[in-house]
Amino acid sequence: MAVNLYTFRIQRNTPREDGTLETRWQEFRVEAEPTSTVLTALEEIKGHQDGSLTFRQSCRSAICGSCAMKINGRTRLACKTHVADAVKNGIVEIAPQANQPVLKDLAVDIRPFFQRVHKIKPYLQEGDETDTNVGKSAYEQVNHVTQCIMCGCCYSDCTMAEVSPDFLGPAALAKAFRFVSDPREGAKSERLKDLSDPSGMWSCARCAMCVEMCPKDVAPMEAIVKLRTRGVDRDYHDGAGQRHALAFHTDIQKTGHLNEFTLLMRTVGFWGTLAEMGSALHLIKKGKAPSPFPHKAAGHDELKRMYEIIENNPLDVETKADERPPE
Ligand code: FES
Repeated sequence: MAVNLYTFRIQRNTPREDGTLETRWQEFRVEAEPTSTVLTALEEIKGHQDGSLTFRQSCRSAICGSCAMKINGRTRLACKTHVADAVKNGIVEIAPQANQPVLKDLAVDIRPFFQRVHKIKPYLQEGDETDTNVGKSAYEQVNHVTQCIMCGCCYSDCTMAEVSPDFLGPAALAKAFRFVSDPREGAKSERLKDLSDPSGMWSCARCAMCVEMCPKDVAPMEAIVKLRTRGVDRDYHDGAGQRHALAFHTDIQKTGHLNEFTLLMRTVGFWGTLAEMGSALHLIKKGKAPSPFPHKAAGHDELKRMYEIIENNPLDVETKADERPPE
């Protein structure tokens, strides 16, 4: 197979004595076949050009999750990414994962990520809700989330983790779904209640980056949506996220329009609204304030009928039955 010359532009991070990092970019030229992986190229650089380059790797088979890093702006497994697929204008740019503290070069401190996973209690608990009848459909509910290898790709590219440091993140929430959906779990309700707090399932902005970047097709956002449905079904309506979703639901059902004038108050309450008064005044000044008078949308009768149909035939958000036997 043809061997090509590629430029690897790598972010080097060197810890200083005062705890800060010195960051710079360094270029390396590497000969590689198009089907070589980015990890192979990094090993070539470390082995023959600069032994001080630091990165994590172990299995080389997309199983251990340790080689997750930013490759041309998106977090991927270096051992699963072909150089030919990663190269852009002749350059492969590599940086450490985002949303995690960098230790050196491409190695990040993975403790914050795993602290979040530990927070959701990643084990079965005894309790009143234990059901020992574990059928095939129960297995199918959790099958896709059990593929998670905890590589952190989803967390690194999560837009909410970037702005909300307490957010549990996609991997921990997908793991939580695995336990909420397991018939043997004895504290499902308690879990859903805990996950309804502001750092939990309602903080997801549904940007779908986690679905796009997961190297194992776990689709964490889908698990988060299912968690939310289960939380609402059990009447956990206390948080801003739940209230926001229910306000949308009520308005659209009633008039077909969102009543943005009262939406903030119904979502974050009086004090939360007061805190946002600066933005509200800005909108009023710019003539962009929503109308305080709700009015019905054209075709609202049709919309009402759709709601009736859905309410009489609840949507099945669970994983569809699969004819294939468990692998
Ligand atoms: S080295 Fe194990 S997942 Fe890449």
